[in-house]
Amino acid sequence: MNEKEMVAIEAVKLVKDGMVLGVGSGTTVAIFLKKLGERIREEEMTVYGVPSSYQSHFLCIEAGVRVVDLLEFPELDLCIDGADQIDENLNCIKGGGGALTREKVVSQASKRFVIIAEGRKFSKRLNSQVPVEVLPFAYGYVKRKLQEMGGICTLREGKGKLGPVVTDNGNFILDCNFGEIENPRELEVEINEVAGVVENGIFCNVDEAILGYPDGVKFLKR
Ligand code: 5RP
Repeated sequence: MNEKEMVAIEAVKLVKDGMVLGVGSGTTVAIFLKKLGERIREEEMTVYGVPSSYQSHFLCIEAGVRVVDLLEFPELDLCIDGADQIDENLNCIKGGGGALTREKVVSQASKRFVIIAEGRKFSKRLNSQVPVEVLPFAYGYVKRKLQEMGGICTLREGKGKLGPVVTDNGNFILDCNFGEIENPRELEVEINEVAGVVENGIFCNVDEAILGYPDGVKFLKR
């Protein structure tokens, strides 16, 4: 069994019949949903989910998770999501799949936010690129402001499509390298203060993380 499968199995154990989930995005979440679908069928459970992307929306339907929205359920029981990097205080960088804005919404709407990731994503300090979702109209201005803040920013380009990646919300993504991030919460707030920024991929609201290593899983709590 690989590390993604190991953490996905642990996350499935957290789900109870009748729960409303915030559903993240990415390959680890895809495995979680596959395994959750098996449990739903075996135990005839009813599980509701607010997906954070078209990817997880489609996978929820395949898994038998009933797709609902935040209008119906403004408070969610549990959010399960992956991460691109996670530090010793459980601060994360997310958005490798471009779903950061809806991921942040469902994570904040949840009573419990659990990250599942391979152990190689752990780093004492955050230092990978921070994805920033930007209103296309504001792109030039936001890029200038983020560069003034010390970021080296690149417009994310599509694969299988020419030009910029357009998110599920119709926006662009700027990937910004700020080097080692001393105070993730401060940077998260500072980036969001720039008009035209929709959201950024620094998450400081994680409650628990389940990390997978070749010899087993590690549970971290804030
Ligand atoms: C998507 C994300 C993903 O959760 C993150 O990129 C991790 O993905 P994976 O599980 O495929 O490594 O933030 O926007």
